[in-house]
Amino acid sequence: MRKVIIAGNWKMNKTIADAEVLAGSLKKSVGNVSEVEVVVCPPYTALAAVKDIVQGSNIRLGAQDCYWEKEGAFTGEVSTAMLKDAGCEYVIVGHSERRQFFHETNETVNKKAKALLKDGLKPIVCVGEKLDERKAGKTFDVVRDHVENSLAGISRDDMLKTVIAYEPVWAIGTGVNATKEQAEEVHKFIRGLLEKMYDRAAADSVRIQYGGSVKPDNIKELISEKDVDGALVGGASLKADSFEQIVRGSIK
Ligand code: 13P
Repeated sequence: MRKVIIAGNWKMNKTIADAEVLAGSLKKSVGNVSEVEVVVCPPYTALAAVKDIVQGSNIRLGAQDCYWEKEGAFTGEVSTAMLKDAGCEYVIVGHSERRQFFHETNETVNKKAKALLKDGLKPIVCVGEKLDERKAGKTFDVVRDHVENSLAGISRDDMLKTVIAYEPVWAIGTGVNATKEQAEEVHKFIRGLLEKMYDRAAADSVRIQYGGSVKPDNIKELISEKDVDGALVGGASLKADSFEQIVRGSIK
């Protein structure tokens, strides 16, 4: 049985004070939820403050990116060891915004995922096609390329600790979510790829989240699909009440 995982990607939002308010509300509303794994991914600047607040609850801490080198002259970067030190358990890598605006490639995503796993952190590896790629019938080719190359060389054991987030770029921040059928079709395809790369048991154990305009009113139908194991939530994770509703709506 795969445990549902709902993660809030706060992106470049929230001052430390605002992050503390949101984390405090979430601790009260979903801090005791045990049916679903709840993760919050604040910006780097708020990690320490949020960690202090969610400590002792069921809410886990995540970051939005990392760098693969251990330490040294890499101005502006944050290492996996630093994120572990800050209390993170999960780290998002390969988000489409990083692929689009910061030249992230499958190769760099792969290096980041491996560095995280080496340090005992769990990567949330994002994959997904753009609108023009979907329109051109290339969805499966793009997703195959992202999955095979972002996860290349990751051992079976490490794969079991890794989460995949299918985030069709055209659904991110647009209010147009993938339908449950569109999501399921790609999630099932990803599970098939994992079976080829590893084996059936591994493929059946890896959690695949859906991301892209997840809201309180669409979580139930998305999560009802067999291969949808959770959600990576952007906009709706910035408010305590909508995130709570998504968490509660995802309890299968
Ligand atoms: P939205 O939920 O705002 O569409 O963002 C999704 C996302 O990018 C999560 O990583």
